[in-house]
Formats: sequence, structure tokens, C-alpha cells
Amino acid sequence: MTIKGNIQYSSPSNIAIIKYWGKAEGEQIPMNPSVSMTLDHCRSFTSVQYEVSKEIRPETALFFEGHRAEEVEEKTKTWLKKISSFFPWIHNSRLHIETRNNFPHSAGIASSASGMSALAMCITGIDRHVRDGQPSGPNIQSHVARLGSGSASRSVMGPWAMWGHSAINPAADNEYAVALKDIHQDFNTLCDTIIVVDNSPKSVSSRAGHALMNDHPWRFGRIAQAESNLELLFRALQKGDWPLFEQVTENEALSLHALMLASRGGMMLWKGKTVEWMHYLREQREKTGIQMAFTLDAGANIHLLYPYKEKERVTDVLEQSPVDFTDLIHDQAGPGPEKLLDDHEKH
Ligand code: DP6
Repeated sequence: MTIKGNIQYSSPSNIAIIKYWGKAEGEQIPMNPSVSMTLDHCRSFTSVQYEVSKEIRPETALFFEGHRAEEVEEKTKTWLKKISSFFPWIHNSRLHIETRNNFPHSAGIASSASGMSALAMCITGIDRHVRDGQPSGPNIQSHVARLGSGSASRSVMGPWAMWGHSAINPAADNEYAVALKDIHQDFNTLCDTIIVVDNSPKSVSSRAGHALMNDHPWRFGRIAQAESNLELLFRALQKGDWPLFEQVTENEALSLHALMLASRGGMMLWKGKTVEWMHYLREQREKTGIQMAFTLDAGANIHLLYPYKEKERVTDVLEQSPVDFTDLIHDQAGPGPEKLLDDHEKH
């Protein structure tokens, strides 16, 4: 029997409030729990043309934005080997993968989160046809995405997801992310404007960055900090407590970069403009009382988070800024991946 088809998903990136930084022992196990908001607009669009049959020897080709991307292809093959314990048919498959992002490369938006989650959705979608069964649930989708990139585990659902074991949430798990419930309306419609100040490629991969936490002198302090910030964030998200959200969000962002700076080799990702923007935003907040908080990923660009009702006032702050930017990308909380195509035939 041969199963053939073409499946396509789009999947968003996400922005972490409680940061995943550092791994524990095991396969892609986080050092501490993390929580993120799933974005809506910034997405990867991924299609997989496939053929599965006992006679086929495995073959995978990956095209990024129309060009064969050998490095990503190799990483994808390693990931496929890893997940073939769930999906043995991978050993008898021909996969032609095409992927693109609708946001600029190196804009401070995690393309591994959107890319790996989109691919995980495609593979679990194909698996359903091969098994002729029920679709995989979010636990499996998230688990499979996690094996490709930790933060991708949180992108298969929205608008808020948590990954990593913690006593604070009995549903939370190290192997997959879970969606957070009972979120206050203000946070379910939260806006994120990404202020791009630098679009040069990252100087250090996040994989190498995570490894710096292995023997970091602050490792245990960081684990305790993430736990206590998590508890505060839960309270803020459920009650709609903006001042508490702001406090936790900026503390996590600044702590992430403090951890990097204090790492062996001193990982310094901020640019001068990153610091200028953080000062300017805090000054404006002090002056106007606008509800807005900044956060950063492992890069120089700023994610400015604010409730929808503040959109106009935030736009004024951005327009009047004496500090310039390369690009502004407007996004908001979103529901997660979307299936775009699922053609298949069996004979
Ligand atoms: C700073 O998920 O990119 O964005 O698991 O090695 O692929 P790998 O790392 P990755 O790390 C993301 C780190 C972060 C914080 C976060 O998203 O939680």
C-alpha cells in the first residue's frame, strides 16, 4: 500500500514571559518551567509532500524560501530519526518539505518555534492518515515539536502555554506544553509590537546559550527565581493584575540577559539602541501611566507588550521616540497553528 499526499500548516512563533534558559538532563528537558504567549501574525508556512510505502527508502529534501537549505535539512533529518520511535513509517517515507516565514529573518522572532511547530503539525497530520486513526492530540504535537526546539513545544497551542514541570500547575509537564486556562480577557488579547533595532544574524545560537547554564554559578538561584516568578505570573494572568505582570515580565527579560552576561565568555546580545529603548519606554511609562512592558528573547530586539485598549497611546509613544528602529512588527495573542491543506490518497 502507498499513501501519498500534501499537507500544509501555518504555525506561529511565541514570546516567553517566564524564560526557558538552560536544560536539565535528558532529551530536551528544560531546566525550569516557562510560560509564553503564542503570537498570531508572525508565522511559518510549511508544506510536506509525502509518499509512504514499504518499498521506499527514506529521502528528505527541505527548501527554505524556495532554496534548498542543507543545514536545516540535516537538522530536520536528525529530528526525524528521533521522532521515528513514535512514527516508524518515517523509515519508509519520501518527504519534500517547503517552508517560509512571513516575518523577516533575524527580527528577534523565534523562527525555530514557528518552524518546528509547523513541521510537527504536518508530521502528526500525516501520521493520522498512515494509521487511519484519530488525530494526535496537543500533547503528542507539543512533544514532537519540543524534540526539534524547546520553545516550539509552546507554539502548538494558544494564546498562553506553559512547558516544564512545576508544583504550581499539576498539569504541567517536562515533555510537552499545556495551554493555560482562566486567563483574564486583557491578556487573551494582549498586543506585542516588536521593535527591531538590529537585524543582523545572531552571534550565538540559543543551543550554545542554553549550554552555558550547565555550570553557571547562578543556576540554582535561577531555577528558584523562575518558580517564584511563575507563581506571580499566574496570579497576574488570572486576576488581570497589570502592575504585577509588568514587574514579572521585565524582571524575567533583564534576568535572562544578566544570566547571559555572567556566563563563561560573557554573552552580550544587547545593542546600544536596545538599552536606549528600554530607558525611553520606562520614562514614558513613568510620565503617562501607559500599561506597557518590555521583554526580549535571546537577541537585541524588544517586544513591547500592552493591552489592546492602550494601542493608540502606545502608537504615540513609538512615533514620538527619539530612538530609531529598523522595523516595527505588530502582533498579538493568537490561538496557534492552522491547517491549510490536507490532500491524501491511498492505493
Ligand atoms: C530565550 O527553544 O530556541 O527564547 O530548545 O535549543 O531549540 P532549543 O532553544 P530555543 O530557546 C529559546 C530561548 C528563549 C526563551 C524562551 O523562548 O523560553
